[in-house]
Amino acid sequence: MTPELMEAGAALRARHEAAPQGPASGGREASYARLLQPGQVDVTHGAILYLEDITVSFDGFRALNRLSLNIAAGELRCIIGPNGAGKTTMMDVITGKTRPDAGRAHFGSTIDLLRLRESQIAQAGIGRKFQKPTVYEQLTVFENLELALKADRRVRASMLARLNGEQLDRIGAVLTQIHLKPSAQRVAGLLSHGQKQWLEIGMLLMQDPLLLLLDEPVAGMTDEETERTAELFLSLEGQHSLVVVEHDMKFVEALTQGGANGKRVTVLHEGSVLAEGSLAQVQADEKVVEVYLGR
Ligand SMILES: Nc1ncnc2c1ncn2[C@@H]1O[C@H](COP(=O)(O)OP(=O)(O)OP(=O)(O)O)[C@@H](O)[C@H]1O
Ligand SMILES: [Mg+2]
Repeated sequence: MTPELMEAGAALRARHEAAPQGPASGGREASYARLLQPGQVDVTHGAILYLEDITVSFDGFRALNRLSLNIAAGELRCIIGPNGAGKTTMMDVITGKTRPDAGRAHFGSTIDLLRLRESQIAQAGIGRKFQKPTVYEQLTVFENLELALKADRRVRASMLARLNGEQLDRIGAVLTQIHLKPSAQRVAGLLSHGQKQWLEIGMLLMQDPLLLLLDEPVAGMTDEETERTAELFLSLEGQHSLVVVEHDMKFVEALTQGGANGKRVTVLHEGSVLAEGSLAQVQADEKVVEVYLGR
């Protein structure tokens, strides 16, 4: 264990246990969180995420305007829409970074996300990938995944503890999934932009989240990297639920093809759902063409 790894570990844990932002944080959420048991996300009603009438205002401007959205357990949902539509703000609400002025947000049918802090939401099983990769450049690919594993408080491993066989297998499986097995011992700083994005997705997968939120995951990737990312996401579908925000329509096409009716795509505009349906349906929708696709 190198000093850098120790330091990175502390930083990683700090990120996961970051103090909450927003006015509603405090003891009320902490006591609510104590009632929750690990693995108790209730998806018996079929949905993993319920957003209902969520409104977020910034100085009177409504970034989200009575947004309602349900994501089924195991679903891969693409969300598209023009700049400023509220896509990132929606992810900020789901992850507890931004508190809505009104509305309801549940994880499974029982967990009230609006009563949890950011770190508690992550622990409950929601992983988020921001646009810019935030891997530890001076550590190897393997060490980055190891850190992500140990940052999981359910594992409660000391940074100094040796990995057990099961943990090694888990890292191996994720390395294969993210196409980085041959680069396991490479320093992350030497990876391509696309590979860094995969590594960060791998770090999220180490925590085995039920729901993954991915904000513009293929921005800046080569065409080949984009195609492989689509394959990766499709391989995660079913075991995880995924909400993917993207402007790259070729990528959205790759994610939604297959299946008799095609997968659902949601179009956001001015903070609410403008259209929802198969990609073909939303592409044929005049309102969608006008505000987004026809530009
Ligand atoms: N912290 C903030 N303070 C003030 N306004 C904000 C804040 N965050 C977002 N906004 C505004 O809310 C609106 C929605 O922004 P958001 O980032 O959610 O859009 P988006 O759909 O993710 O767009 P893009 O496709 O460009 O990423 C924008 O008009 C943005 O300027
Ligand atoms: Mg955005």
